[in-house]
Amino acid sequence: MAKQCTRLLVCTKGKHCSANDGPSVLKKLRRTIERCELDQFFKVKKSGCLGYCRYAPVISVESYGFYYGKVRESDCQEIIERHLAKKKPLKRLLLPSKKSK
Ligand code: FES
Repeated sequence: MAKQCTRLLVCTKGKHCSANDGPSVLKKLRRTIERCELDQFFKVKKSGCLGYCRYAPVISVESYGFYYGKVRESDCQEIIERHLAKKKPLKRLLLPSKKSK
């Protein structure tokens, strides 16, 4: 049975994320997914500002409705592995919900 595709939005167009490695994180996520041949499990899209500018660069795990902030290229492999296995979100990068921020 095919796994559901997880959608990741990477803020690359917002002012803060574009100046704080958003584009590099996007590239790293895409490269990791391609290298591991996981294209059928993940879709990675560029995004405008996601409303968490002070945590730049920011990723939205759109499929699950949560956000990661201050993401580094070195976090990308772990994010992919975590969501491929459908484990709980990475707490150290998880941002507060928009209602409580
Ligand atoms: S600029 Fe990326 S979240 Fe606002």
